[in-house]
Amino acid sequence: MQELETTTDLTRFAQNAIQRLREVDPELHAILEDEYRRQANVLTMVASSSIADPAALICEAMPTMNVTAEGYPGNRFHAGCKHIDRIEQLAIDRAKACFGAQYANVQPMSATSANEVVMFSVMKPGDTLLGLELDSGGHLTHGSKASISGQVFDAVGYGLTKDEVIDYDQMRERALEHRPKLIICGTTAYSRTIDWARFRAVADEVGAFLLADITHIAGLVAAGLHPSPVDHAHFTTMCTHKQMYGGRGGLILIGKDYEMTAPGSKLTLAQMVQKRVFPYFQGAPNQSQIAAKARGLAYVASPEFKQVAQRVVELARALSDAFLAKGYRVVFGGTDNHIVVVDVAAKGVSGVNAEKALEDCGIVVNKNRIPYDQRPPTVTSGIRLGTNGLAIREMEPADMAECVDLIHEVLQNVSQVSDKEYELEEGFRSSIEERVRAIARRRPIRTYPAPL
Ligand SMILES: Cc1ncc(COP(=O)(O)O)c(C=O)c1O
Repeated sequence: MQELETTTDLTRFAQNAIQRLREVDPELHAILEDEYRRQANVLTMVASSSIADPAALICEAMPTMNVTAEGYPGNRFHAGCKHIDRIEQLAIDRAKACFGAQYANVQPMSATSANEVVMFSVMKPGDTLLGLELDSGGHLTHGSKASISGQVFDAVGYGLTKDEVIDYDQMRERALEHRPKLIICGTTAYSRTIDWARFRAVADEVGAFLLADITHIAGLVAAGLHPSPVDHAHFTTMCTHKQMYGGRGGLILIGKDYEMTAPGSKLTLAQMVQKRVFPYFQGAPNQSQIAAKARGLAYVASPEFKQVAQRVVELARALSDAFLAKGYRVVFGGTDNHIVVVDVAAKGVSGVNAEKALEDCGIVVNKNRIPYDQRPPTVTSGIRLGTNGLAIREMEPADMAECVDLIHEVLQNVSQVSDKEYELEEGFRSSIEERVRAIARRRPIRTYPAPL
């Protein structure tokens, strides 16, 4: 990296801040250091995470946090916002450019709140929404009873075909039968390419709005490695911390339909979203988070990120192939994105036991239900892995066979006492942990200094 000679006010601020934290709160500083080291030493394969770019992370620690700025650029309810407006406008412009959108709202605190904003923009309590079922790879916010989406709205689901791809015919049948106001597409644990145009055709046929939640695949969409829904869906939502390698937060985009008005409303879709974010759901936005989003959006639009995204996809394919070669059942038959879902119950280990035993050894994945799973969400029959965190270590497809060898060894050595209890011999555990550390040292996180 290029050495910059001059110290700036911000570099002094950041150095002073970390020094001060160490002095005034050594206890907290030590925990933060532990977490830094943990991330450096383990292989994080949680599909819903990545290793954020430090240039984005540092924005979250900036004094922008001190500014209360209800409203939008040029139209605030507080004074002192002239630079805040510049940051938010930059984030908006970058979001639009990155995804080819006509409208962007960068204020939502998470993808969950972005989804809620869209739902409450086009639906009233009791209206029907149609979303992918949880077991088929859908997300809680797409109509589960555990979320406000399934409590306030009448949620209907669609699922997968026998071949474990989205059942577009069933989705259409359910839409014709239930006439939803909103159809939600986009997934949390589905590894195949999504046909956005097919969803839009059904939405138009039944007079529904279409929300594409690309939380998981936003980076691949930005890099052109997954088709974009932005001009197919009426609304596109995402979070900026899973595959955008940026700070935490949500984003709402609208493509070619931004000037469309909803039936019975004088407001355009863009105006509805604008009002639903503030003041309906949120007060002052988190401006440091918005600065981090601006940075993350520039990063995913860069040629450098295109290579990272390409690696994400190649690693996932290699990971899936390595599991298949070891005789595992890979759900959905393989992968087109960063996600690989593996049926571990077929090998005699529940999802939760696999997750915990692997974590004991320094491999971080998460338990996941598989289609028609008989086990509850706290147990599950599968694990979900993702390659966002491995790509930033510049791993090669050949490394995936080594990772799968380790995972396989762990799963073979787990003694399952019950679906939620297991034993792992300590000598074996520490030998695997040492091998994981060796890989982590050989393939360090490219953007983070190695721990001392
Ligand atoms: C498809 C999808 N939407 C929304 C969310 C929620 O994201 P957030 O944690 O930003 O609220 C997730 C999280 O996993 C997700 O996978």
